Amino acid sequence: MREQAVIIGIAGGSASGKTSIAHQLYDCFQGHHKVKIMKQDDYYKDQSHMVFEERTKTNYDHPFAFDTDLLVEHLKKLKNKETILKPTYDYTLHTRSHITETIEGRDVIILEGIFVLAEKAVRDMCDILVYVDTDSDIRFIRRLRRDIEERGRSLDSVCKQYLETVRPMHEQFIEPSKKYAHIIVPEGGSNIVAVDLLITKIKSIVD
Ligand code: ADP
Ligand code: C5P
Repeated sequence: MREQAVIIGIAGGSASGKTSIAHQLYDCFQGHHKVKIMKQDDYYKDQSHMVFEERTKTNYDHPFAFDTDLLVEHLKKLKNKETILKPTYDYTLHTRSHITETIEGRDVIILEGIFVLAEKAVRDMCDILVYVDTDSDIRFIRRLRRDIEERGRSLDSVCKQYLETVRPMHEQFIEPSKKYAHIIVPEGGSNIVAVDLLITKIKSIVD
């Protein structure tokens, strides 16, 4: 086994299927290797000093919303299989939760998030760069459902946020970051062939 962890970065627009692909890879590797899924979203800046109303106004699709320095610091440690104390995030409260997760050294780190390719310091830490490419109408429908069911949002708030920040920031930052991908996966987790190819490639690196 390698002394350093392999880091697989999975980027793509909101609700493109990043988490779904991350879990498919995880399921495939966990029997043979120590694997951990990391969410870039856990590194949104702490906003507990702000009142809730103020937090709802943050642009969560801009690089400034993230504590990228902390993420890169943690990725460097994970690369060397060192232990980190990872923050966790609460979408319903728009800030970090009180829970901190201890993550010990792993063989494979699967990092998923909208800015994994767009942030140079983050993508430079990754051995394999994947972009999940799903049409924006499909992503919007998925996001609408998910944000209402799981993230405590209303129909109006999802539509407003999508038009004001999610869509323009996607066009400015996320879509252009596709050019940095080693592999572009159309249609997210339902693309079984692409996921199988990814698994074969990762196996050739870690085994
Ligand atoms: P991301 O991590 O990119 O935001 P997810 O994998 O969490 O995307 O998917 C967003 C939502 O879309 C989730 O509710 C998920 O269940 C749903 N979803 C993901 N992939 C598919 C698919 N191929 N078909 C239908 N729904 C999907
Ligand atoms: O899982 P997904 O990639 O969709 O998560 C990123 C999205 O989460 C961003 O597009 C951002 O708009 C959204 N977000 C939010 N509220 C927060 C934090 C993130 O709507 N408090």
